Amino acid sequence: MKAVIFDLDGVICFTDKLHYKAWKNIADEQGIYFDEKINDRLRGVSRMESLDIILEKADRAYSFDEKKEIAEKKNDIYVSLLDTMSEKDLDANVKVVLDTLRSRGTLLAIGSSSKNTKKILEKLGLRDFFDAVSDGTNITKSKPDPEVFLKAAEMLGIKPVEAVVVEDALSGIDAALAGGFECVGIGEAAMHPKVTYPLKDLADLPEIVLRKNADI
Ligand code: G6P
Ligand code: MG
Repeated sequence: MKAVIFDLDGVICFTDKLHYKAWKNIADEQGIYFDEKINDRLRGVSRMESLDIILEKADRAYSFDEKKEIAEKKNDIYVSLLDTMSEKDLDANVKVVLDTLRSRGTLLAIGSSSKNTKKILEKLGLRDFFDAVSDGTNITKSKPDPEVFLKAAEMLGIKPVEAVVVEDALSGIDAALAGGFECVGIGEAAMHPKVTYPLKDLADLPEIVLRKNADI
């Protein structure tokens, strides 16, 4: 296994609660019911598709222009929340996992649907850390389509069978499998019936990569 491709939100950082705050603000303003359970369905899903899920609970139809305006407003709120982030928000356990894999020569990439990926990496002090960053700015289809991971593999110059994808979202596991990748699931994604390696703790990831390479 030459490479590990990490999802960002919910794996490398815990921005999912910031997405929730921003969407909750929007939903309250529009008088639409929204809770954390609905928020779970937004993991790995693009901004506009997330809005469509939220609007399922609306009592009227929204025009494309209205949706565009709401999505922009949500992003403004989200970005102002991201501005409060710093290197201190990089979880120490995540950093150990990244450094351990890096010290063994594993290629490391990001595969995220977020258009704010580079901003978040910058905030966490990881701007130049990864060998490749594939994100919402270089894809046309978001997860469960495998495009974001296939682009990451292409940037790394490797084949999908040479990489493992790490995900917290069910849609992300579907995307990885559709692209021909093995996948590690944490949180909700560990419950996916087809996940290759369900994990309780991301800290166990280097061991999985090591064992897999010993088998080859
Ligand atoms: C990630 C998150 C989703 C989010 C998407 C787009 O995949 O898990 O919840 O909707 O990125 O994020 P963006 O920052 O572009 O609005
Ligand atoms: Mg995620």
